[in-house]
Parts: sequence; structure tokens; C-alpha cells
Amino acid sequence: SIAYSNGQFVDLNEPVIPVEERGHQFGDGVYEVIRVYQGKPFMLKEHLERLIRSAQAIKLPIEERLTDYEHLILKGIEKSGLSDCDVYIQITRGISPRNHLFPDVPVSTTMTVKPSKMLNPELREHGVKAIFHPDERWANCYIKSLNLLPNILSKQAAHDAGCFEAILVRDGFVTEGTSSNVFIIQDGKVYTTPLSKQILPGITRMAVKKAAENLDIPFIEEKFTPEQLKQADEVFITSTTSEILPVVHIEGEQIGDGKPGEITKSLYKEFKTFIK
Ligand code: PDD
Repeated sequence: SIAYSNGQFVDLNEPVIPVEERGHQFGDGVYEVIRVYQGKPFMLKEHLERLIRSAQAIKLPIEERLTDYEHLILKGIEKSGLSDCDVYIQITRGISPRNHLFPDVPVSTTMTVKPSKMLNPELREHGVKAIFHPDERWANCYIKSLNLLPNILSKQAAHDAGCFEAILVRDGFVTEGTSSNVFIIQDGKVYTTPLSKQILPGITRMAVKKAAENLDIPFIEEKFTPEQLKQADEVFITSTTSEILPVVHIEGEQIGDGKPGEITKSLYKEFKTFIK
């Protein structure tokens, strides 16, 4: 594992963040999590573009640094010596005496490169359980911001209920998971929440769309209710770290026959071919 803080590669445990860093005082920043397979960052361009869009949305002008970030990530991977790893990169509004107004200081960049958290293979094989939870987040969930308090509270609620993920519900419709996008399959068609300010435009979601196209499986971006999810033939969630993960129980009830579905499996198989 390796860490980076504003110009220096450091040991992961080295204390490098000044107290008056806006990332931890205000959550005033954005981040990305990128999966690296065999030394190659997966869909790096898409992650960098989303990072820039998130930054723009919080008025952090970093677009001219895109290639710097790209080089930094590649260098970090190389320095870590790791082949299958996760890159976490965070950009904040910088270090300045605490004041709500934007300071006139350079942005802060920090990064970690660590071995990929290996998902228990049982979970992938047998699927995971989920709960529903009210979506208590703000109005701009399309920004990958550091403010994750509602996400971690609902994820913990899922964990405390013996489940892997909390599926968030706003105004009677499923939005997404605490750290994943949500999909249902009904009558051979894949449905997922349409992109809007209410959800993060997942990079894995993008890959699933491509996989569905390749397999001629209709991919429909349409809202659905918790009830529709319960009645679905198959349900799965996606994220950079968990890829495509079948959901087989919701609120203690079985989905379909309680086993990962065939369409989910074929989408995952197709997804795997994108990793080279
Ligand atoms: N989370 N929705 C939310 C709220 C997320 O936090 C994430 C990812 C996703 C899936 O996006 P992607 O496919 O681009 O990873 C959807 C990351 C992995 C995290 O915070 O650790």
C-alpha cells in the first residue's frame, strides 16, 4: 500500500493532513475510487471525467489538471507495486483557517493505493441481502462528494440487520444503494433508475449498459418502486469495488427463487470481458 499527499508519496500511516484541511472540517471536496486489474486502472478516463464534473459542480476548477491526475494515479499504482488494487483519490478546497467562504489557496490532492478488498466469494456466488432505507441525502447526489454521512448511516443500518447493502428510497421510488447503483430484471429486461441529480452516474452502471447492449438485453432507464423490486425476477447492484453483485433477499423476503439469476450472471460474464 502507498499514500500520496500534496506532492509527496508517503507511508499510509504517516500523519500528513493539517488540522485545518477543508476536506475534514467541511467535507469540502470530491473523490473517486478506481479499480485496478493486473496493473491497469479500469475505465480510468471515465473516472477522471466524473472527477472533473464533480469538482466543477462544487466550483473547484481543476479541469486543466486532468492529465496530471492521470499521471499521478499511474505513478501511484507503479510505486505501490500492486497489480490488483483500489485507488482512492480525493481533491479538496485546500488548507486554510476555518471559514465557510472559499479560501484563495491551492487545492489539496491525496491518494491511497491499496490491495483490492476481496469480496467474500460466497457473496458473489450466493448473492447478498439488502434492506430498504429512506434516502436522507441532499439534492445533488450526482456529485461524488466527501459528505457521506447519510450513506454510512444507512450502510451501517444494513450491516446491523445482517445485510450487505441498503437500497435507498425517495418519494416512493428506489434511487440507488449507499455505495452502489441498483438494477432489477423483469421479463428479460433490465431496469435501472434514470440519471438525474438524485443518483451517482456509476461507471460500473455504464459498463452494465454496454454489456446489456452487447447481449441484446433491453436496458431501460426508468424509475421503479420498492414493491416492483420485491416482485422482480432478479436484482443486482453495481460498484467499482463489488462489480456486479446479485441481491437475493430484500427485507427478509426472497427475490425470485432466492438464487442469483441467469441474466445477472450473463451480464457479469460479459462485464468480465471488458477487463483486459
Ligand atoms: N461508491 N452510488 C453511490 C452513492 C456510490 O458511492 C457508488 C460508488 C456508486 C457506484 O459507482 P461506480 O460504479 O462508479 O463505483 C453508486 C464507491 C465505490 C465508494 O464510495 O467506495
